[in-house]
Amino acid sequence: MNQLKENFLIDPDSIFLNHGSYGACPRPVFQEYQRWQRLLEEQPVHFFTDTVYHALKESREALGEFVGCDEDELLFFQNPTTAISNILYNLELNNNDEILMTDHEYGALIRAWGEMGKRTGANIVQQNIPLGLTYEEDFVDNFWKGVTKNTKVIFISHITSPTALVFPLKKIIQRAKDKGILTIVDGAHVPGQIDLNIQELDCDFYTGALHKWLCAPKGTSYLFVKREHHGWMRPLIYSWGKQGADPGPTEFLQDFQWQGTRDMSAFLTIPKAIEFFYETIHPLRLECRQITLEAFTKFQDVIGTDPISTGIGWLGQMVSHPLPNDIHNDIKSILLDEYKIEIPIFEWKDQKLIRISIQVYNDRKDVESLMIALESIK
Ligand SMILES: Cc1ncc(COP(=O)(O)O)c(C=O)c1O
Repeated sequence: MNQLKENFLIDPDSIFLNHGSYGACPRPVFQEYQRWQRLLEEQPVHFFTDTVYHALKESREALGEFVGCDEDELLFFQNPTTAISNILYNLELNNNDEILMTDHEYGALIRAWGEMGKRTGANIVQQNIPLGLTYEEDFVDNFWKGVTKNTKVIFISHITSPTALVFPLKKIIQRAKDKGILTIVDGAHVPGQIDLNIQELDCDFYTGALHKWLCAPKGTSYLFVKREHHGWMRPLIYSWGKQGADPGPTEFLQDFQWQGTRDMSAFLTIPKAIEFFYETIHPLRLECRQITLEAFTKFQDVIGTDPISTGIGWLGQMVSHPLPNDIHNDIKSILLDEYKIEIPIFEWKDQKLIRISIQVYNDRKDVESLMIALESIK
């Protein structure tokens, strides 16, 4: 077993190849989480009227440095769904508007946009991004074919969920800016998996999950809101705002931060999670990528189906690969029950995809065990 697995709380007996879904929290970060929770319970009043605001600021500062933006452009949310929903309800959409996304977006958020479409009459367009991705230019051109004079918003993943592809977004965001189209990036899988500089990317909104590849405790995500939009973004939940104890620095932050009494301890662990990341994860990230690329090739050898991209340049620490149509229906539970392998299988556009994640607690033996299992199941 990879010795680093002992640093995490996941079951040492399982072959855990699904970091992508919910992440896994390392012991030191989890201890920090519990330390904040104890501090809260020891003196709840002082904690909620004073301590928490200073600690939140430190967390925002550390996160701002990590993702490349100012601390007062960041709002903490429990997950990307609530972060994106907060934008959705602020957009004044009507039946002339179009929302453009790819056909690789996360299902729950397609649903959220779809509901907003039903309410407002706005048209939700899922642009086809054909598989077998090769050149960045083709990807950008294919996506841009979906833009019309009515496109009001582009909503796009930075790393996709079912297909695990790293989408090159820079040019799309530049073109959108030239046309006055708002850009909302779903970077749920990005912080910790690939480098990120939001200011360089220059999008309007960017959400990321911190419990996935940054390995923070569950329920830690953020929303970046470009400063020029602070004037019209309102919280879904109004509470005390500037009349409360939050010292600021801005009314925008005060409006979003206090949403009634809740446990914000997980948000306060971000400096520790970043420290753990630089000490333990970052030095091994290239090795994890290398193992991911090896898995990309092995999937082709063992399963025999075509890959969905050319690999390098499109992958971080995850790869999705198509399973044959006649694969055993219970493949997920067979892998789990008989081989103790935790790995997701997605139904995506009439095909099944198996998605492997490689984190520092994995090693080549884990990939080998998966390939042996797949060989015997197919
Ligand atoms: C690409 C992507 N976006 C958004 C989400 C939403 O996460 P949640 O359900 O925690 O809000 C996920 C979750 O895995 C995801 O993979």
